[in-house]
Amino acid sequence: MKIRNICCIGAGYVGGPTMAVIAQKCPEINVTVVDINKERIAAWNDKNVENIPIYEPGLSDIVAEARDRNLFFSTDVDQAIDKADMIFISVNTPTKTYGIGKGMAADLKFIELCARQIARVAKDDKIVVEKSTLPVRTAQALKNILDNTGNGVNYQILSNPEFLAEGTAVDDLMNPDRVLIGGDIDTAEGEEAIQALVDIYAHWVSKEQILTTNVWSSELSKLTANAFLAQRVSSINAMSELCEKTGADVNEVSRAVGMDSRIGSKFLKSSVGFGGSCFQKDILNLVYIAKSFGLDEVADYWHQVIIMNDHQKKRFAAKIVQTLFNTVSGKKIALLGWAFKKDTNDTRESAAIYVADYLLNEQAEIVVYDPKVTEEQIYADLDYLGTRSEKENRERVTVLKDPYKVCDKAHAIAVLTEWDEFMELDWQKVYKAMLKPAFLFDGRRLLDRKTKEEIGFEFYAIGS
Ligand code: NAD
Ligand code: UDX
Repeated sequence: MKIRNICCIGAGYVGGPTMAVIAQKCPEINVTVVDINKERIAAWNDKNVENIPIYEPGLSDIVAEARDRNLFFSTDVDQAIDKADMIFISVNTPTKTYGIGKGMAADLKFIELCARQIARVAKDDKIVVEKSTLPVRTAQALKNILDNTGNGVNYQILSNPEFLAEGTAVDDLMNPDRVLIGGDIDTAEGEEAIQALVDIYAHWVSKEQILTTNVWSSELSKLTANAFLAQRVSSINAMSELCEKTGADVNEVSRAVGMDSRIGSKFLKSSVGFGGSCFQKDILNLVYIAKSFGLDEVADYWHQVIIMNDHQKKRFAAKIVQTLFNTVSGKKIALLGWAFKKDTNDTRESAAIYVADYLLNEQAEIVVYDPKVTEEQIYADLDYLGTRSEKENRERVTVLKDPYKVCDKAHAIAVLTEWDEFMELDWQKVYKAMLKPAFLFDGRRLLDRKTKEEIGFEFYAIGS
């Protein structure tokens, strides 16, 4: 079966970049990305391609090449569904904030809405692809809705989880370690649907890297991969605290451990705590699923990864207070970085939000600089926590576009995102403008201790 028209529901961090790359690599396929968020779609269609809503290195060039050729962004969801042979569902699946499973389970209301909309609109057979990260066995629920509320057409459900990381999305999509496709491997129709999706990826990914499995393995592999990755970060972060007590240096430990080829060197960078929209949400979801099967030990094992991460964020903030003579009340603290990692404008679950909140509770005055995150986003992140009024957040937090102004007359600086440009700052100039003693807290192990101490900083870094 040859796919001619693709629709992707959800023009977010996954739907946008993924479809842009498919469109670029498969010029014979029309790809339409739809979303209910009108502003987001307008931004994807902005004449100035630098204004697309997601910042990812290399993405604007691809969009510039494919947009209006075979890549389209639209709010007309019905029309795109109707036209498509294959429909990707790439909507958000956040942690539930209400009812059963509150704070743990994935909220599947957006997924269900998509399924019902597809069922209502589709007048011919469709392949529906789960691109969103979903609890294992969601495909069954999707099939149920499609078969029972649809127009009598046939659906094949595939699971095709996305492994891209933000900040490197384009490169990850262009050169994936693997592509995973789960489907109904027991029927000819299932095999045909799997093959149709394999053929798309085969435009640029070698056959050996395209794995096909049953649907449940595919769904569960995604949660497992994120749990393993996050677990490595929590493991090295646990060691960072022990390093600080013992004179060991977490970077040295990480290097020594990572050179064991059975362990490997990636994802062993100690930090102020992992953030991002995926790790916490997906592990909590995994914990919830395990609990719902009565697997308490499995649930507790994975839950510890989150507990460790929360501890890391809190202890970094507490260290700032403790070092500044046990009070930051009325003191200006400069935060360098707000995004959850470098090279993205995404702030979801960023450690910076929690560090700022902790310091605000201690009555600090916060000033923030991030090269890609907007002022509105920073206030929205703090408001979302609901710790204090919106008015108070705006009174006590200032966002500036100049890192030197942010550090001017500050008692302390905390580096919370590993943006390259922070390494290149004129640290001598920064030091001069600060109050003394000038405290510098490196939550990312980004800066060189020796040169900073030579300048005169009181330097603290995670894990040493
Ligand atoms: P996102 O919030 O950036 O984008 C989701 C989009 O879906 C939003 O723009 C929203 O308006 C739209 N949407 C929701 N319901 C809709 C509906 N009924 N019709 C049309 N549009 C609708 O989310 P994201 O970061 O792109 O994540 C999407 C999924 O991919 C999640 O399940 C996530 O876990 C998974 N994932 C994310 C990443 C990542 O790095 N962000 C990586 C791998 C997988
Ligand atoms: C993650 C997964 O890597 C990706 O495969 C999945 O598709 C989505 O979730 P993402 O959250 O975008 O991607 O970024 P990632 O590079 O994994 O970083 C997540 C967080 O962990 C960031 O806050 C990062 O700074 C932190 N991290 C990562 C560390 O603190 N140390 C590390 O060694 C690696």
